[in-house]
Amino acid sequence: MAQRSGGSAEVGATWVLIAAAGSGERLGIDRPKAFAVLGERPLLAESLDRLERCELVDAIVVAAPPGWEEPSILLAEELAASKVVACVAGGATRAESVAAALAEVDEQALVVIVHDAARPLLDEAVLERLLVPLAEGFDGAVPVLAVADTLKRVRDGVVFETVDREALVAAQTPQAFLAPTLRRAFARDLEGATDCASLVERVGGRVAVVDGDKKLLKVTTADDLALVESWL
Ligand code: C5P
Repeated sequence: MAQRSGGSAEVGATWVLIAAAGSGERLGIDRPKAFAVLGERPLLAESLDRLERCELVDAIVVAAPPGWEEPSILLAEELAASKVVACVAGGATRAESVAAALAEVDEQALVVIVHDAARPLLDEAVLERLLVPLAEGFDGAVPVLAVADTLKRVRDGVVFETVDREALVAAQTPQAFLAPTLRRAFARDLEGATDCASLVERVGGRVAVVDGDKKLLKVTTADDLALVESWL
């Protein structure tokens, strides 16, 4: 059941879904990753605050760790994040969490941007870059980084082959989509999807790439958290 924010968000064209329902087991803390402390506030506060202040964003839905919907709403209220329309309980996988948040998006929405709470250092310039391909007719856009290391395919601890890295990139979030296309993608089987773009690709959507940002590092371990904190 979604917790409604007391916020005064006007329904608008561009919605952001924050996937924040991960357990964060590898961080080794006593609460979900979205509530790990970054600086002096929960990790989730960083992206929430940045999205609230971004003029490109009209409304926000948070997929919270199950049982943490109310603390998430309270956090949004503390931050005066009036664009937060709802905090829903996330699901067992990232895709299921995004699906739960997507169900709260208004029928009139034109663009849906999906972001990981685990990538707190969200720069508005990335959002600006993502919206360009959508205006040009693409179904979606993702920020990517070139792969620096040589990549090997391995079987049973032995190198099977070296992969040509020229055509390979690492995809980050936020990822932006035309709302009808994302809805169509999420109406299908979500099995095995590690990002939203892969589901849009499965329904034949054209997804453009834009320059990513090294500071959009995904916090997985305590070392990542310390590194992101040093960049705050
Ligand atoms: O687990 P991982 O860090 O790869 O998750 C990426 C993002 O997806 C995180 O922001 C996490 O909170 C979110 N997630 C979710 N629901 C899940 C698993 C992950 O919203 N069941």
